[in-house]
Amino acid sequence: MTRAPYLSSRLQGFGTTVFAEMSALAVATGSVNLGQGFPDYPGPPEVLDVARAAIGTAHDQYPPGPGIPELRSAVAEHVQRFGGHAYDPDAEVLVTAGATEALTAALLALLEPGDEVVLFEPMYDSYAAGIAMAGGVARPVPLRPPPDGAGPWTFDTAELRAAVTPRARLLLLNTPHNPTGKVFTRAELGTLAALAMEHELLVLADEVYEHLVFAGARHASLATVPGMRERTLVVGSAGKTFNVTGWKVGWLCGPAPLVSAVRTAKQFLTYVNGGPFQPAVAAGLRLPDEYFAGIARDLERRRDVLVEGLTAAGLPVVCPEATYFAMVDVRPVQPDGDGLAFCRALPDRAGVVAVPTVVFYSSEHAHLGRHLVRFAFCKSDAVLAEAVERLGRMG
Ligand SMILES: Cc1ncc(COP(=O)(O)O)c(C=O)c1O
Repeated sequence: MTRAPYLSSRLQGFGTTVFAEMSALAVATGSVNLGQGFPDYPGPPEVLDVARAAIGTAHDQYPPGPGIPELRSAVAEHVQRFGGHAYDPDAEVLVTAGATEALTAALLALLEPGDEVVLFEPMYDSYAAGIAMAGGVARPVPLRPPPDGAGPWTFDTAELRAAVTPRARLLLLNTPHNPTGKVFTRAELGTLAALAMEHELLVLADEVYEHLVFAGARHASLATVPGMRERTLVVGSAGKTFNVTGWKVGWLCGPAPLVSAVRTAKQFLTYVNGGPFQPAVAAGLRLPDEYFAGIARDLERRRDVLVEGLTAAGLPVVCPEATYFAMVDVRPVQPDGDGLAFCRALPDRAGVVAVPTVVFYSSEHAHLGRHLVRFAFCKSDAVLAEAVERLGRMG
C-alpha cells in the first residue's frame, strides 16, 4: 500500500502558486498580465551576444561546481564596485541556479530542524517553502504600510524583538523588498544588525533588486554594517538586473565557512547550471556604471506610468522606492476588501491580471494582506499604456 497524502508533511500547505493560476487566467481571458514579475523586453545586447556565442563551445558542458572563475571574479568586482566588501572569488563567492537556489541551499545548509528564521512579511513566496524544506520554523514580523499612504513601510522594533526567541538561528532580510518596494534605511539596517549581533544570528540578505532603486532611495547591504560581514550571506540575481529571469543565474557572497557550507548543499541540488549563461552574466556585471543607473531610471519612468494609472483608477498605491512592483489597496473598488476575489474578477472587470498579496503572508498575518494586490511594471510602454487604459475603464 502506498501512503497518502503523497506530499510530505513538511510541504503541506504549499499548493500550486497563485502566480500560475493568474498567468493561466491572463492567457485564457486575453488579459494584460501584470501579475508575474518578469520583463517583456530583452536584456542588453552585450550580455545576450556573449551567451549566443558561448553555445556550441565548451561552455555547454558542466561548469565548475562553484561557477566559472570569470563569473566569480566578476561577481566579486561588481559587489565591491557598488559599495560592498572585497570577497575572495575562490572561497567567498558561489554561483547558483538563480537567487532561489542560493536561498534554499543556504537554508538547507545552515538550519537544524526546529531552528527559527526571523523575517519580514509580506515575503517572497520561496522563503517559507525553503524554511519548511530545511525543517526550520518561520517567525514572520509584519511590515506596516504608512497610515496615510505616504512614506515608506515600516516595522515595529518591539514586534521584531519579540519574534527573536532562543531558537532563532537566522535573519532573512530582503531589501529592496518585494512586494512592498521598500528600501530599508541605514537606521533600520543598524537596528537589524544590532539584533543579529546580540542574538548571534546568521543573516541571509536577499538583494536581488539592488539596482532597481529610484530617486530618493539608496540601497545599502546589511553586510556592510560594521560587524555584519562575518555573519552575512548576500544573494544576487542576474535575472533582475539583465532582464533574463529565465536564465536562472544567481550568486551569493559571504565569509568562506558559510559559503563552503552552502556549497555542500548546492552541489547536491543542481550541482551546476546555466553553462553558456555564466560568461554572459560575467560580461553584464562588468558593464559600465551607466548601464545600472540607466535601468533604474527606465523603471522609474514605468513606475510613474503605472502608479498614476492605478491612482486614477481609484486604487490607492504606496509608491514603491524600488523593485518592479506596486501594491494597491483594493477596498475603494472592492467593498468586501478581498484582494484574491478582486484578482479573480479583474480580467472580466478590466482585462488586466495582478496577484493578491495575501499569498506573501503567513496564515497568522494573512488578514494584514487580504486587501492588497500587486501589479508589476517591468513591461513595455505599449503594454503599460494598454493596462492603464483598461484599468481606467474598470467596471
Ligand atoms: C525577493 C526575491 N528574491 C528572489 C527571487 C528569485 O530570483 P531568481 O529568479 O534569480 O531565482 C525573486 C524573484 O522574483 C524575488 O523577488
